[in-house]
Amino acid sequence: MIISIFGLGYVGCVGMGCMAQSGHTVIGVDVAPEKVERINSGKATIVEKDIDELIANAHALKLIRATHDYKEAVLHSDISFLCVGTPSTDKGHLNLDYIYQTAKEIGEALEEKSTFHVVVIRSTVLPGTNDKLSAIIEKFSGKVRDIDFAVVSNPEFLREGTAVADYMNPPLTVLGSSCSKAIHIMQELYKNTNSPIEVVAVEVAELIKYVNNSYHALKVVFANEVGSVCKQLGVDSHEVMRIFCMDKQLNISPYYFKPGFAYGGSCLPKDLKALNTLAHDLYMETPVLNAIDDSNVKHLNRVVQMIEHTQKRKIGVLGLSFKAGTDDMRNSPIVSIIENLSGKGCEVRIYDKNVALSRLIGKNKSVITEKLPHLNSMLQDSLHSVLAWAEVLVVANKEDEFKTLVLSDNQIVIDLVRIPELEKQKNYKGLCW
Ligand SMILES: NC(=O)c1ccc[n+]([C@@H]2O[C@H](COP(=O)([O-])OP(=O)(O)OC[C@H]3O[C@@H](n4cnc5c(N)ncnc54)[C@H](O)[C@@H]3O)[C@@H](O)[C@H]2O)c1
Repeated sequence: MIISIFGLGYVGCVGMGCMAQSGHTVIGVDVAPEKVERINSGKATIVEKDIDELIANAHALKLIRATHDYKEAVLHSDISFLCVGTPSTDKGHLNLDYIYQTAKEIGEALEEKSTFHVVVIRSTVLPGTNDKLSAIIEKFSGKVRDIDFAVVSNPEFLREGTAVADYMNPPLTVLGSSCSKAIHIMQELYKNTNSPIEVVAVEVAELIKYVNNSYHALKVVFANEVGSVCKQLGVDSHEVMRIFCMDKQLNISPYYFKPGFAYGGSCLPKDLKALNTLAHDLYMETPVLNAIDDSNVKHLNRVVQMIEHTQKRKIGVLGLSFKAGTDDMRNSPIVSIIENLSGKGCEVRIYDKNVALSRLIGKNKSVITEKLPHLNSMLQDSLHSVLAWAEVLVVANKEDEFKTLVLSDNQIVIDLVRIPELEKQKNYKGLCW
C-alpha cells in the first residue's frame, strides 16, 4: 500500500521506518523543513534504537520520501496516518490545533481525489475527535464520510527508547471506526502483526490510551510509595515488588479491574488502613495510598446520589454481604449506604439469602442483632416481598437469583455490580457504565 504520514516526530518517524520495512511505500509530511530534509537524505528525525538503520535502508530502497506538499502526499496515497503532536494547553486541556489543521489539509486534498481514502488517527486524542475530524474533512472536501473517505482511530502504544521494538510487537492493535470498509483495509494492513486486533467502538479506541497512561503513572507512584515505606522499614523494596508481581491471579491480572461497587470486606479496608498508619508513623507522605479510601468513599457517595435522584423513598436493597456467596458483613460498603438512606428518611427493606440464613442458624446473629440492630428490622426473608414493595431496587451483589428479577415498568433498578441480564429492564441504571 502507499501510505502518507503527517508528522515526522517519534510516532511518525518510527511508523515510517517500520511500515517501509513491511514493504509499504511511505510519503512523510511535516511542517518542519529540517525533518523533511533529513528523511530525504536517508536520516531519521529522532534518536531511537534501530531507527537510523530502518530509515537508511528504506531510503536506499526508495520506499520513503518526505514533502511539505500535503496535497501531493494525499493524492498519491491510499491511507493517511495522523501522527502530529497533541500537547497540553497552558490550562492543561488537550490542544488539538495540529490535528484540526491536518484535517483541513487532508480535506482540501480529498476535494481533488476520486478514490476512497482512509484517515488514521495515531495521535493521542480524547473521545469525540474522530467525529470532529470527519466533520472538518467533509467541510473542506465536499465529500461524505464513510462513503468517500473514513476516519479510523488507531492509538499508538510505543514507548520512547524501545519504540521500534514496541511498534513491531504491540500488545494489541486497537481499531475504531464507523466505516466497516475502512476497518477491513486496516485489518489487511496489520494482517502480519503478531498480536490481537481489537475492533471496538470509536470512543473506546479514543479513550484507551489515556486510561493506559494514567494507569502506568499510577503504577510508578504506587511502586515508589511502597518502595519509600520499605526503605524506612529496612525492607528490600525490589524484593517486595518482585514477589508482588509474581501473583498473576490477583495482582497482575484482570481481577479487580471491572468498574463496579466500592471495595469492602474484612481485609482490604483494614490492611490499607494499617499500611497508611504505618507510613504516617514513619513520618512519610504517601498521598496515593492515602487517597484510595477517599476515592472509595466518593464512589459510595455517588450511589447515594443516584438513589436520591430517583426521588423515591421505598428502597429495596438486594445483597447485604460484601459479595455474593458469603454472609460476611464486616465493612460491607452497602451497610453505610443503607445507614445514610435511613438517616435521610428513606424506608429500606433488605434481602440477602445468605445473611437471612446465617441469622436463622445463629452464625452471624451477634453481628446483626448487636452491631447492626437497625438492619435486623429491615431484613426480609423473602425476595418476593421486597420486589413487590420497593419503588427502587439497589442490586449490591451478584447472587444468581438477581439475574431474573421480574419488575414492573415503574420500578427503578440501580445496579452496583453490572448483571448483564438486568440491563434490559426498562428503568435500569448502572453505577459506572
Ligand atoms: N512519543 C511517544 O512516545 C508517543 C507514543 C504514543 C503516542 N504518542 C502520541 O502521538 C502523537 C505524536 O507524538 P510525537 O511524540 O511523535 O510528537 P512530535 O512532537 O515528536 O512530532 C509531531 C510532529 O508533527 C509535526 N506537525 C505539526 N503540525 C503538522 C502539520 N500540520 N502537518 C505535518 N506535520 C505537522 C511537527 O513538526 C512534528 O514533527 C501525540 O499525540 C502523542 O501523544 C506519542
